[in-house]
Amino acid sequence: MQISIEKLKDSQLKSLYPNTTDLGFGKIFTDYMFTMYYRRGEGWVEPKISPYAPLQIDPAAVVLHYSQEIFEGLKAYHAADGRILLFRPEQNAKRMMVSAQRICMEPVPEEVFLEAITTLVNLEKRWIPRDCGTSLYIRPTLIGCGDALGIHPADEYLFFVILSPVGAYFKGGFRPLSLYVEDTYVRTVNGGVGAAKTGGNYAASLMASEKAKSKGFTQVLWLDAREQKYLEEVGAMNIFLVFDNKLVTPNLNGSILPGITRSSVITLAKSLGYEVEERPISITETLEGIASGHLTEIFGTGTAAVISPVGSLFYQGRNYQINNNQVGRITQALYQKLVDLQYGKIKDSNGWVRNIGKI
Ligand code: PLP
Ligand code: COI
Repeated sequence: MQISIEKLKDSQLKSLYPNTTDLGFGKIFTDYMFTMYYRRGEGWVEPKISPYAPLQIDPAAVVLHYSQEIFEGLKAYHAADGRILLFRPEQNAKRMMVSAQRICMEPVPEEVFLEAITTLVNLEKRWIPRDCGTSLYIRPTLIGCGDALGIHPADEYLFFVILSPVGAYFKGGFRPLSLYVEDTYVRTVNGGVGAAKTGGNYAASLMASEKAKSKGFTQVLWLDAREQKYLEEVGAMNIFLVFDNKLVTPNLNGSILPGITRSSVITLAKSLGYEVEERPISITETLEGIASGHLTEIFGTGTAAVISPVGSLFYQGRNYQINNNQVGRITQALYQKLVDLQYGKIKDSNGWVRNIGKI
């Protein structure tokens, strides 16, 4: 692919964040973005890196009316020896193709996805923060931008990638979160688009998560839509429970996102000697486990969230504390292992870490 690059003069470049301690998440954007169009009859055309700027799209674009949109999230890490590392980026490319298929969009070929990211991140490498817990978040996005008010898939698509230097997703960093177990609203349904990374799922979740936040909770823990009995996932992460040293996580039932961190944690936990079960987990089993002391840890997994310990669950008017609201031993060990791999500090025996350049 021949990517055209429209460069800014040095004097036009943005100034870098003043420090990395209050980067937050997704508030700062870098100088450039990648764009590429798909047009029926022409295929993928005009791969381009240009200055970060508002997009021009037709007011009748399918994405604006019928939500034909999917996205991905991954990070570039600054290794101590100056390598620029990505973590399993081909998994994001593959998941984006599956999401595209689910809502009838033109999938972005894996090699286009990877080359776009590699080229953009290398051009923007001055933005990759180096402190522990910081990284350059990569947001590949695909929208249906053909104009049509009749309901059908767009015949034109825009794939774009933007970058944002980030710190911890949750305020306060690696410390136990409080989750509100939602028993009125649902995020997605059986047969729906819950397993696709599409914006509509997040729009559907906003009301419940705003309600939870207004009551002082960090995020919502969703239950299944049919019976409101089984744990699904959290707003921006998958969920794991530790029962008597065994890890248990909801199976991929079609309504939860198949997280890449989730799959990595399953492999890492097994390599550390832990048993892992993927199966339905009811809220009753969860609360009984907390009461009996068999459930000792809960944590969430996600690209933005990394591994986030959960200190309490609020369900139907009662608060349930896990491990005295302290970070658990297994959560801590898995977090360390994952982060050490992502920052290139330990041997990557799974071939997950991709070196894409030098600072
Ligand atoms: N579930 C939801 C709803 C998410 O938004 C995310 C974040 O991407 C995840 C789970 C975790 O997925 P991953 O580990 O691939 O980032
Ligand atoms: C991610 O972890 O990459 C996500 O997409 C979660 C959230 C910021 C939507």
